[in-house]
Amino acid sequence: MKKNSHLQTIEWKNNKIRIIDQTRLPKGLVYLDIDNLRDLWLAIRELKVRGAPALGAAAALGVYLGSKNLKTKSREVFNKELFRIADYLASSRPTARNLFWGIERMCGVAEKFKGRSVEEIKRLLFKEAQAVIKEDKVTCRKIGLWGARLIKDNSTVLTICNAGILATIDYGTALGVLYRCKEEGKRLKVYACETRPLLQGARLTTWELQNKGIDVTLICDNMAASLMQQGKIDLVITGADRIAVNGDTANKIGTLGLAILCRYHKIPFYIAAPSSTFDLSIKSGRGILIEQRKPEEVTSLFSKITIAPKGVRVFNPAFDVTPNNLISAIITEKGIIRPSFRANIRKIISSVQRRAYSG
Ligand code: MRU
Repeated sequence: MKKNSHLQTIEWKNNKIRIIDQTRLPKGLVYLDIDNLRDLWLAIRELKVRGAPALGAAAALGVYLGSKNLKTKSREVFNKELFRIADYLASSRPTARNLFWGIERMCGVAEKFKGRSVEEIKRLLFKEAQAVIKEDKVTCRKIGLWGARLIKDNSTVLTICNAGILATIDYGTALGVLYRCKEEGKRLKVYACETRPLLQGARLTTWELQNKGIDVTLICDNMAASLMQQGKIDLVITGADRIAVNGDTANKIGTLGLAILCRYHKIPFYIAAPSSTFDLSIKSGRGILIEQRKPEEVTSLFSKITIAPKGVRVFNPAFDVTPNNLISAIITEKGIIRPSFRANIRKIISSVQRRAYSG
């Protein structure tokens, strides 16, 4: 791929949802056109499209995709079907708040414009899904702007998983901060944790950063402690899948370990996330549902090479929860939230979250 060419993770194109198939990276940049809900559900489940904000957009476009071909002229029947579609999409992955937020936005439109015809509501749903995409582009750039204030020239940054272009529409949250630093002329060195078992760090983050011309070094997850001990890391920055009202943050499995290491080595640990990742209905991380994934992801390499004996018991949570007291700051599009999170999150993140749908 040409360096610095513009990538868009997900969009509505030719009456279909077009995604970059992230399971094909870094070998090939392959686009996938999705024209039915079942394929979208599978694409989400199989991480062809992944990352919290991208899942929000997938859910919003998915609600439109599912509803656009409904034949009924009755708004009552239409709404019933819409909620069935919402439930189906909501069952794809449980942890990322944005997926539910995307669904809620769409259901909120159906609720708000109850009196409109089916044809009109379909048009409004399309508009809303496009707005989700457009807003993400702006939101991520604002996160980048705020976050860059925290990073000095010549810093060495460590990250996990992929919170970049591929996890959003076209810029990223944690990686968006790094892109902004580069735009400002700051020199950065980045260490990317490979992110076992599905290797989002090795496959996606390094690919993205290389493409953006950022100095990136890949490490196995278990090498982070040693790097910190040698004084080679100035800060850690990651994305988030769901943030409770007290700041406890669910993100890719391994994030908690990094936050604990940061505390021990006195290194700042930052989370970068849009306000759509906050779940003000959840008091603490204990209320966050963590996705458990299939054993084969751990016992084999992409179901191809077996690396563990048949029948071995496996623990495979996709995410962990970092308690608020290990987080130095949460970077959002509305500003930088610092401790005490319980008070400050409510000040910055609006408590008015539409809940026309509650899956
Ligand atoms: O399982 P994934 O790849 O969807 O997990 C993604 C992450 O954990 C990201 O860090 C998170 O969604 C933030 S993306 C901006």
